[in-house]
Amino acid sequence: MKVINTIAALKSLLEPIKLAKQKIALVPTMGALHKGHVSLIKIAQQQADVVVCSIFVNPTQFTDPKDLEKYPRPLEHDMKMLQEAGCNVVFMPSVTEMYPKPEEWHIDLGPAEFLLEGEFRKGHYQGVTQIVKKLFDAVNPDIAFFGQKDFQQVLMIKNMVSEFNLPVQIVSCPIIREDDGLAMSSRNIHLSAEDRENALVLSKALTYVKDNFSTHSIPVLLEAAKKLINGTPGVELDYFTIANGATLLPEEDKKHHDIVALVAAKVGQTRLIDNMILN
Ligand code: PAF
Repeated sequence: MKVINTIAALKSLLEPIKLAKQKIALVPTMGALHKGHVSLIKIAQQQADVVVCSIFVNPTQFTDPKDLEKYPRPLEHDMKMLQEAGCNVVFMPSVTEMYPKPEEWHIDLGPAEFLLEGEFRKGHYQGVTQIVKKLFDAVNPDIAFFGQKDFQQVLMIKNMVSEFNLPVQIVSCPIIREDDGLAMSSRNIHLSAEDRENALVLSKALTYVKDNFSTHSIPVLLEAAKKLINGTPGVELDYFTIANGATLLPEEDKKHHDIVALVAAKVGQTRLIDNMILN
């Protein structure tokens, strides 16, 4: 496994591979890796010749400086996980490597940018697409893999790719859950034992909605899910919605395909998101 810190070194490693028509996959991460990330690497390995994983805690996507500061950075553990997963190249640039000078970034990501996470974390998806574009420029991947857990993020990245007409395929990979249903997340590390127990209500509410989707109306499902979450101590609901997966607008017609239930809540001091595709 090669560990690379500069864009120039990365390009000189990858350009001959690209010229030899080998398929390059990129798995962008912010580190603090868990089994969800490993699953992305495993899926990437099945579809490409060379898998590059980036680890970069991107400052421009954090709306709360405290959140950026306390973002976990367990480097040794990450390297071990990547080595064991059989990752070929790790790209781990510094902040100045990715942002050598101050820059303005604004791209039209469509109205869905301002919904859900976009409402609670203003400017978040501008920062996400800014760094993903830079990583695409550095790696020039044929295919890139993202977790479905950040459902809106995948949508925003697909919108960015189509806005710039980038020659990269975006693949959304299934959410990996703990045995009790908790969606894996780098932020779970901040949950106390009590928070972790309370956090299970998010996947329980989503599962309830999925299991009852064919028999109950959308308003009834929403009411039941919100009641379940609001009745759990230590959990502060930001949103629970049943939405159109392409627009993220609330869905009213169950006959449409591509319907997804999405939730975000603060559990103790930790903000968690989760979702489930319903049809
Ligand atoms: O999902 C993440 O870890 C980040 O948002 C990403 C895509 C690596 C961009 O910093």
